Amino acid sequence: MADYTIKVRRFQPESGAGPYWEEFNVDLDPSLSVLDGLLQAKDRDDGSLAVRCSCRAAICGSCGMKINGQSGLGCKTQIGEAQELADKQASATGKGGEGNSIVIEPMGNMPVIKDLVTDMESTHWTKIRRVTPWLLPHGEPPEREYVVEPESMIDITQSMACIQCGACVSSCLSMEADPGFIGPAALAKAYRFVGDPRDAETHERLHDLAEDPHGIYDCTHCFSCIDACPKGVAPMDQIMRLRRKAGEEGIEDPNSGHDHEIAFVKIIEKKGTLDESLLLQESFAPGVKGKLKPSKRAIREMLGSIPTAIRGIKTGKMRSLHKLIPGVHPKLPDQDDVKTIFAHAEEHGEEFNLYIKGEEGELAEDGVEKGIEHSTDPDTPQEVKNG
Ligand code: SF4
Ligand code: SF4
Ligand code: FES
Repeated sequence: MADYTIKVRRFQPESGAGPYWEEFNVDLDPSLSVLDGLLQAKDRDDGSLAVRCSCRAAICGSCGMKINGQSGLGCKTQIGEAQELADKQASATGKGGEGNSIVIEPMGNMPVIKDLVTDMESTHWTKIRRVTPWLLPHGEPPEREYVVEPESMIDITQSMACIQCGACVSSCLSMEADPGFIGPAALAKAYRFVGDPRDAETHERLHDLAEDPHGIYDCTHCFSCIDACPKGVAPMDQIMRLRRKAGEEGIEDPNSGHDHEIAFVKIIEKKGTLDESLLLQESFAPGVKGKLKPSKRAIREMLGSIPTAIRGIKTGKMRSLHKLIPGVHPKLPDQDDVKTIFAHAEEHGEEFNLYIKGEEGELAEDGVEKGIEHSTDPDTPQEVKNG
């Protein structure tokens, strides 16, 4: 047994007061869960503490919450591990010491009903229904069941593992900026049917999700939902699969999301790093002809991006003015390695994700922010991963 202090963000609507923090001392074996700690506090100290749970075994998806700022399941997070993380986070911010409070909050991106209980209907379930979460086969149904090759279902088993806990929704950075974004859980669910060989409306589904301004191209590829998901669904990967299929079907989305993605990949292949000054031009007027004779839309989009470029300079994202001139951005010195990775991925038809290590706000494995300074300097250590 060990003593822990849990600091819970509370909200009791019937009191008429705003949210507040309250600490409880609990006494548990470190291998027991944060949810067990909350239930002990509810049992011993305050029966009005509201928390939703059922299975206590990471199956029902009821106990989504934020623990030390990270979205996940209360019943799947051991209280001993949560304590270690709280102490590491405290030492990273210079507070140091052991026995820091474990901070527990309701999930993000959702209205709070009471204490740790959030309104899943208005955000999560409404969005799940938005993607038509059932099979749409054509023709007469078979006399018995639909028979499919087991191999053809492998692609969607990952998305089928979802328990609808909402942890990915809680952690989604795009949803914070755009509450209308369909979001990671619903889009993972959409892939479950897009990838199902029995479904006959794949093209219509992809069109719908690509054309919606809050659809598949609204994801910023931030990986938060992958970190948050307790069941390994990796919603971002399912979104990338939807994008790939939409691209393969030649679907032109009104936001030029697909063209933007192609431009991004082309620039990385050519230079090894992202030359942001080329990104708009390549997204809206790609190729030599497009550059010589850009469409009206390309000119409009490029002019419309000037305020963003100015903001980039003001905030320091674009530190050097010369990097705003298309084509001036230098190539990565070992750029040939990048080309080899591209060639390998193309030859083997592999899924391809790119990310750069060392960005500002990057979290280490233990969840503590490393505080590495952002840099657009080509000498900054970078790594390209193929996965
Ligand atoms: S990767 Fe996309 S869907 Fe996932 S949390 Fe980030 S923005 Fe949201
Ligand atoms: S994708 Fe993962 S985190 Fe999101 S609702 Fe499903 S199980 Fe929960
Ligand atoms: S109580 Fe069922 S998932 Fe946590």
